[in-house]
Amino acid sequence: MKVLLLGSGGRECAIAWKLAQSPKCNQLFIAPGNAGTSAYGQNVPIKVNEFDKIALFSKEQKIDMIVVGPEDPLVNGIADFFAALPDAPKVIGPSKAAAQLEGSKDFAKGFMSRHGIPTARYQSFTAAQYDDACRFLETLQAPYVLKADGLAAGKGVLIIAEEEGNPKSALTRAKEELKEMLNGMFGAASATVVIEEFMSGIECSVFVLTDGEGHYKILPVAKDYKRIGEGDTGPNTGGMGNCSPVPFADDVFMQKVEERIVKPTIAGLKADNLKYKGFIFLGLIRMDRDIQQYHAGDPMVIEYNVRMGDPETEVVMPRIQSDLLDLLEGVADGTLDQKTLVEDPRTAVTVVLVSGGYPGAYEKGKVMSGLDHPLFTQGVVAPAENAEKSILFHAGTALNAQGETVTAGGRVICVTSYGNDRNEALAQSMRGAELIQFDGKYYRHDIGQDLNKF
Ligand code: AMP
Ligand code: GLY
Repeated sequence: MKVLLLGSGGRECAIAWKLAQSPKCNQLFIAPGNAGTSAYGQNVPIKVNEFDKIALFSKEQKIDMIVVGPEDPLVNGIADFFAALPDAPKVIGPSKAAAQLEGSKDFAKGFMSRHGIPTARYQSFTAAQYDDACRFLETLQAPYVLKADGLAAGKGVLIIAEEEGNPKSALTRAKEELKEMLNGMFGAASATVVIEEFMSGIECSVFVLTDGEGHYKILPVAKDYKRIGEGDTGPNTGGMGNCSPVPFADDVFMQKVEERIVKPTIAGLKADNLKYKGFIFLGLIRMDRDIQQYHAGDPMVIEYNVRMGDPETEVVMPRIQSDLLDLLEGVADGTLDQKTLVEDPRTAVTVVLVSGGYPGAYEKGKVMSGLDHPLFTQGVVAPAENAEKSILFHAGTALNAQGETVTAGGRVICVTSYGNDRNEALAQSMRGAELIQFDGKYYRHDIGQDLNKF
C-alpha cells in the first residue's frame, strides 16, 4: 500500500515510525512532516488543509490511504471531500459531521446526553443569554468550568476556583470571565460558551479505533502531563510527557469505560448517522467522589477528540505490537473485527524537550546535537530488537540551510523509552534527554511519578 500521512508533529512522527514497520507499507509520504519523519518516509511540502493539492498528489502517486493526524482538516471535512471524489484514497478519519465531537463542545455534550454517556451536567449560552448563564452559574459550586464551544488551540477552557486572599469570589470572577468569553476572548470559538459542573479526579486518555460498522478496538491507555512545571504546576502546554499503561485504568475501570462509554459512543455514532472511520480520543476522568448517579472510582468523559493525542501517541504506538497498517485497513474496509490488536506488556514513557520560554514566547532555529548518539534508535527499527535504546519522535524540528537539525517549535522532540516499570522507562528517557543539546532546552523529570501511589 502507498500511504500519505498528514501532519507535522510528534504524533505524526510516531505514526510514521509505526507505519514504516508494516510489511504492507510499500511507500510512505508525510505532508508536510518534520525533520524526524523523513527517516520513515518522504516529506511532501503540502499543508494539511490544502485539500486540492493533497488530491492532486494522491492521484499522481496513486495513494491508497490517507491517514489524518490533526483535527483541523477533519473538522474542515477532509473525509467528505475525498468520499466525493472518484477513485479517491481511503481516508482514516471521521466525517465533518462526526468531527463536531471535537469541533463543538456543545455538540459533544448534546451527543453524550442523548446517548446516556457519563459526563458533567452542562448548559450552553450565547451573549444574548448572559443573564440566564449567570443564573445557571449560581446553581453550581466553585470551581466553575467555562468552555469555548469551538476550537481554541487547546486554550478555550477556564477553571475558576476560590482563591485565598482574592477579595473577589470565584462566582464573581466566573461571571466576568464569561462576559469576556462571550465578547470574543477566543474569537468566534467562544460565541457560544458551555458551562459545566466541575469533576474532581485523575485523568487518563483512552483511544478507540473504529471502522464505522460497529467494530472497535481499545488501544493502550495513556496519561498526559499537561503543565509546564514539575509536580503538575504552572501553565498548560500541549503536553510535556506521557506514560502507558496507567495503573488506575485497571480491568474493573476499563470494563466500565467499555460498557458505559465506548459501546454507547459507537452505538450513538450509528444512531445519529455520523460516519466515523478512525481514532476516537476519550479524555476521561476517574472520579474521586460521587457525582450524579456515579460513584468514586467511576469513569466520566471530559471531552472527545477525533484524532490521536499528542504526546499520547508517542507512547501508544510503541505499545502496539500489531501491524498498524493492517488495523487501519480493517478500519477502512469495515472489517476491524477480523483484525487483532496485541499490546506490548512493557511500560513506555515519553518526555518532551521544549524550547525555553514555552508555552509563552520562545526562540526557534537553535541547532540541535546528540541526536545520533548510540542510545537512540536510528531509522526504521522495530523496538523489540532494540529494547535498551530510546526512540526520538521529532515534534518541532526542521533542517536549516546547512542541513543541521534545528528547533522549529515549542515542543521540540520527544524521548520515548521502554522499561519493565515506569521508573525504569523514565530513567532511560532522562538519560536520553541529557544527551540532546540545544540552547534553552527544558523538560520535566517527573513524568509518571504521581502514579506510584496506585
Ligand atoms: P478540555 O479542553 O475539555 O480537555 O479541557 C481541558 C482540561 O480542563 C481537561 O483536561 C481537564 O483537566 C479540565 N477540565 C475540563 N472540563 C472539566 C470539568 N468539567 N471538571 C474538571 N476539570 C475539567
Ligand atoms: N495531549 C492532549 C491532546 O492531544 O489533546
